[in-house]
Amino acid sequence: MTFQGKVALITGGNSGIGRAAALAFAREGARVAIAARNRERGEAVAREIHEKGGEAVFFPTDVSKPAEIEALFRRTIEKWGRMDCAFNNAAGYSGAFSLTADFSEQEFDETIAVDLKGVWLCMKHEIRQMLAQNPAGGSIVNTASVNGLGGIATGALYSAAKAGVIALTKSAAQEYARHGIRVNVLVPGAFLTPMLEHNMDRASGGDPERRRQAEQRYVAFTPAGRIADPAEAAEAVVWMCSPSASYLHGHSLILDGGMTSLFR
Ligand SMILES: NC(=O)c1ccc[n+]([C@@H]2O[C@H](COP(=O)([O-])OP(=O)(O)OC[C@H]3O[C@@H](n4cnc5c(N)ncnc54)[C@H](OP(=O)(O)O)[C@@H]3O)[C@@H](O)[C@H]2O)c1
Repeated sequence: MTFQGKVALITGGNSGIGRAAALAFAREGARVAIAARNRERGEAVAREIHEKGGEAVFFPTDVSKPAEIEALFRRTIEKWGRMDCAFNNAAGYSGAFSLTADFSEQEFDETIAVDLKGVWLCMKHEIRQMLAQNPAGGSIVNTASVNGLGGIATGALYSAAKAGVIALTKSAAQEYARHGIRVNVLVPGAFLTPMLEHNMDRASGGDPERRRQAEQRYVAFTPAGRIADPAEAAEAVVWMCSPSASYLHGHSLILDGGMTSLFR
């Protein structure tokens, strides 16, 4: 039980990688605050954790709304008094599927508000809490994407936001390392989640053969020869937050089955 008595916050914890992380932190003894918009899915994850003997609460939160983030932190600290681990993982769908010149300003603003500003706002509250609490310190992991290491056609806004998440992580890691706060970033390749399913459905326009080809393209890009399970990302995040990773600061953990290994 690596996190017995510790408190972990997970944004986007009601689905995909975040849900898997919520279950993994709870399995390791953490009390888990789950934040996302969809209440039904959020409460279902909290229930699943309770049924397994763990402790979790769902706080409905839109990370593009500063007041809702503030409420999330207030309620988490009121409930459990501190924050030891934070996984800033929520992201939306609006930054993909257009050429760079064809995105609307609204799509730009929405993508940056959720995928980048939302991460920064959460970090702001997390860092302040981790500095103030006694004992001080904690561990923060943000979720970027291999798309944030370079760029991808028809995904300029998502890529830009995720590149920003990597830069935020590395800057904060340098600033707070000596205050006992470790900040690192998970850089996933292809994981079978509702987001990836949505991308493949959208790319195939509802045609089952094109859908199969879309999936095969991800497999072909990936030396490991498969799309990963979200639980594989969760285990990496649990390790990054754990005392076993005590010297890990400002690190981009590229978890992509080798997808980008040719270029780095
Ligand atoms: N799956 C992949 O292959 C892959 C690859 C690279 C990076 N990633 C990254 O991994 C992270 C998790 O994604 P996933 O693949 O697990 O997809 P997912 O299952 O669709 O999860 C996305 C999560 O973000 C939450 N979310 C979206 N907009 C939000 C908002 N405005 N406020 C609060 N929560 C919000 C969603 O919950 P609600 O809709 O209920 O709010 C959901 O919990 C994301 O940062 C994504 O960019 C995934």
